[in-house]
Amino acid sequence: MNLSALPMTSEILSLAKYLAASRLEFSLSEMNQYLSKGYKEKELFEILKMNFFNLNLYCSPDHKCSKIVKTTLPSDEAIVKELEEVLKHPGLPLRIEKLVNSYIEHNFGKNWSTGDTGRLIRENIVSQKEEYWKGEGGSVYPRIRIVSYLLYHFPVYFCQYQRLLFELFKSGLLFNKMKIIDAGSGPGTISLSTIDFFRKLQDIYSRNNMDVKLSIRFGSIENELENIVCYKELIKNYLSGSGDISSNIIMDEPVRSSIENAPIPKDADLIVFSNVLAELKSTPPERANVVERIASSSKDPTLIIIEPADLDNSKALRITQQTLVRNGFYVYGPCSFMWGRTCTGNNCWSFRELGDISAPDFMKRIADTADSYRYMNIDMKFSYVILRKDGISKHNYHAKGKFMALSNLKMHIEKHINVAASVMSENLGNEKILVFKICDGTAREPCYAIMPVYHMSENNRELSEAGYGDIVEIFGVLVRENKNQSSINLLVTRNTIVRIAD
Ligand SMILES: C[S@@+](CC[C@H](N)C(=O)[O-])C[C@H]1O[C@@H](n2cnc3c(N)ncnc32)[C@H](O)[C@@H]1O
Repeated sequence: MNLSALPMTSEILSLAKYLAASRLEFSLSEMNQYLSKGYKEKELFEILKMNFFNLNLYCSPDHKCSKIVKTTLPSDEAIVKELEEVLKHPGLPLRIEKLVNSYIEHNFGKNWSTGDTGRLIRENIVSQKEEYWKGEGGSVYPRIRIVSYLLYHFPVYFCQYQRLLFELFKSGLLFNKMKIIDAGSGPGTISLSTIDFFRKLQDIYSRNNMDVKLSIRFGSIENELENIVCYKELIKNYLSGSGDISSNIIMDEPVRSSIENAPIPKDADLIVFSNVLAELKSTPPERANVVERIASSSKDPTLIIIEPADLDNSKALRITQQTLVRNGFYVYGPCSFMWGRTCTGNNCWSFRELGDISAPDFMKRIADTADSYRYMNIDMKFSYVILRKDGISKHNYHAKGKFMALSNLKMHIEKHINVAASVMSENLGNEKILVFKICDGTAREPCYAIMPVYHMSENNRELSEAGYGDIVEIFGVLVRENKNQSSINLLVTRNTIVRIAD
């Protein structure tokens, strides 16, 4: 191979490509044997870094390089258990907490939580909340709005998203080599959370003596310059102290654009729209086109859409979801369409609750005032959908004849019947009467399984143990109509049998 005629960077690139294809492993210093000019290993590493991903190359911090082939991340039981244990105590990692704190201090000084600045930030937190709930977040994010966002929304969004990544991990939908798109990235919640997730996972692999090499490339789209500046600062600082894992994480230059008009990313493995669709001016069905366009040049991406849990935003998400389904996407979770029919997505309010995170110190500082509760945001409560193009779904359950579709319940009021359905809420009742939203994709009105605690028995306990989206088979349940709420209640008594399916 004659490399001498090539300009500097392309000479290095071509050589790296050649060595990656022809050697199992090589060290960057070896490259000097073939190059027209000598380089330090560190220089070669920096020159090549942005190309590792495309070259299918993994280079360790001590500059040993080898080919990396995309494979599912190992998720054997012991690893899953350890990771689950880590995620059981959700909260921001200390390093992220410190970085956010430095960002705030850098912009508003060490005493940001007191005096006029503290007052302004608090006012902004309150008005920002109201805007979200009305689904009119707008896109005006001057620095004070970013700081309010970091203080109030960022910690919970960061933690809840890791639980969705955990689901993907368990199902074999995370890979050692991934391209991830953070659409509507804001200050970088999703990108930072993903890097932290991989860091946690890599620590676990190391503890278990598993050598798992990662090559992750992030792209992001955001229309507000201030957010992009914050995103870049937080991520750069986070990666600069993250040791080994940072060596093969590539951050593309953020795309400053509206998602509607952004260049379409190519070959993404994971595309995340976290708390952004509700901010678009378009209607919920139109938002499906925005998502579809962004996913159109990726062969089999996993799409995650997350929205707030409130009635309006949650219902809007299901409409967008079902428009995407009609356009050829498949729901991986949390919904299951066990009768082979898809729903309309109309009038569906369902959200997931994952408990509280521990409040970061900066949140406690801003909440150290009268009406403290207004500035504390620690409960993970959100609506989401995970979509695929290839039809993979979390549950592959098909309901059969011994069960009745929920769409037929109205003809069987006051009768005992059997149903199979997904549990689509936590307990919506109280300690004495448990209430769970259930759905099988056919119901025209909301359906609830109601279980008075004094009826709980070994026969039916699994109803209360089912996770969000889990499918239960319920035998011998009494159908009741709730005319006031236009809903159907299924009364679970001590004679009712409930089994978690799958
Ligand atoms: C609520 S924040 C969510 C940020 C981040 N994804 C998270 O979950 O924390 C919404 C972000 O989307 C951005 N955004 C809103 N509309 C947008 C659009 N049409 N195109 C690109 N970004 C948009 C906003 O500027 C803001 O940064």
